[in-house]
Amino acid sequence: MRREPARKSGAEASNGVGTSPDNHYDRIKDWLWRRIAWEVRFARHVLDIGCGSCELDRFVARENRQDVLGIDISDGSFPEDQGANSQLDCRRADARKLDFLKDDSIDAVVSLYSLHEMEKPIDVLKEAQRIVRLGGGMLIVDFPRGSLAQRIWNENYYALEEVAEMLRQGGFGHVESRLIAQGQLIWAQGCKVVTGRDVP
Ligand SMILES: C[S@@+](CC[C@H](N)C(=O)[O-])C[C@H]1O[C@@H](n2cnc3c(N)ncnc32)[C@H](O)[C@@H]1O
Repeated sequence: MRREPARKSGAEASNGVGTSPDNHYDRIKDWLWRRIAWEVRFARHVLDIGCGSCELDRFVARENRQDVLGIDISDGSFPEDQGANSQLDCRRADARKLDFLKDDSIDAVVSLYSLHEMEKPIDVLKEAQRIVRLGGGMLIVDFPRGSLAQRIWNENYYALEEVAEMLRQGGFGHVESRLIAQGQLIWAQGCKVVTGRDVP
């Protein structure tokens, strides 16, 4: 299900504390995008899997002056004017198979509100692990099971520990996961690390 949260005024920018259930996620949007942009600020090439309308990617490309590639299995919401921003590239692709991306070619992969919609999420994470460089990271932000989101949209979400375990099964190391935004979001990260298989 695609969600298009309403834009909000700058005066509403906050960490979402004290918001009502109905607009909690709208109200934390700017704060969350800034937090994600900060997290990937040292990356040269950023990939967003399940990017939807590429709004986050446009923000990150502008904020950090980075090359941001957004991929989504559906291109129905891509911006028409993406050519105006040479650092932003939105492409239709299935996150399970990103053949056009070489191994170790991306510095940071992000996934915002997408993992719960993806079929075979571990295959998606294995593919992300293939294309991210050694030391590069994968950041997953999604709604946790039992969150306000579940009440609002009546969808199934993963529990925090499930997402952490999926990152490990996808081949990521140094996995860290926690709840943020008053417990209404999962923030989970993993890193591409050297494994025994990599050592000759
Ligand atoms: C809820 S939307 C989130 C979109 C965007 N990240 C945002 O924050 O608004 C989830 C997106 O995941 C995409 N998606 C689902 N399965 C996918 C897959 N296998 N590969 C790429 N995108 C996928 C859907 O098309 C949808 O646009």
